[in-house]
Amino acid sequence: MSISITKGYVEVPTVYELDHPLAAHHLSILRDVGTSSPVFRNQVRLLAMLLAVKATEDLGLESVSVQTPLTRMEGKRITGRVAIVPILRAGLGLVEPVLELLPDAQVWHLGMYRDEATATPVEYYSKLPKDNPATVGFVLDPMLATGGSIGAAVNALQRWGVADVRVLSVIAAREGIDRFHAEHPNVRVYVAAIDNELNAHKFIVPGLGDAGDRIFNTVS
Ligand code: PRP
Repeated sequence: MSISITKGYVEVPTVYELDHPLAAHHLSILRDVGTSSPVFRNQVRLLAMLLAVKATEDLGLESVSVQTPLTRMEGKRITGRVAIVPILRAGLGLVEPVLELLPDAQVWHLGMYRDEATATPVEYYSKLPKDNPATVGFVLDPMLATGGSIGAAVNALQRWGVADVRVLSVIAAREGIDRFHAEHPNVRVYVAAIDNELNAHKFIVPGLGDAGDRIFNTVS
């Protein structure tokens, strides 16, 4: 049975699917096979920002004194150590927009590709530290198909000791979301769209093709 997906605002959903006209508009351009790599990259950037705004709405704040041109006032700043963890390659497309919003975040890279025959993730790069875990860690990957790659990244962050792991992904397959949620029921997932189908090759349908190839203009 599929889990229920939250659309729009609720307190703290476990799986959050963007329900916003800007998301719908920019997603349609992203999905279009005729969209060029430069435009595709920019659409990923815009959607990553929309996702990041939603995924960070309960981050901790502390007071900070601010001198405005007119007076002194009490302002706010983000507390805690924030880590963002892109899954190479395609996750790189979400790094810069998320860093714009969280400029003090640490960036840790994980290299994974999906084996074409088995559709299971193969890790080829990981340099996560062994101690001093971040307060909150955001896994970035534009695609959650079977959920294997993002699941492996979440496991790595949890082994590091990150208690609050969240996922930002642009397109997910319902099957992958269900599997991921069953394995990580307490990890929040923020996606722009959840598509109904994974085809025989475990590609998301209707989807957007291969995000890594489209971001880096390596479509063969
Ligand atoms: C794609 C995508 C995810 C993964 C999704 O990466 O960017 O990392 O597959 O599939 P899953 O949910 O079934 O694990 P790919 O293997 O194409 O590598 P790339 O980012 O280097 O293109």
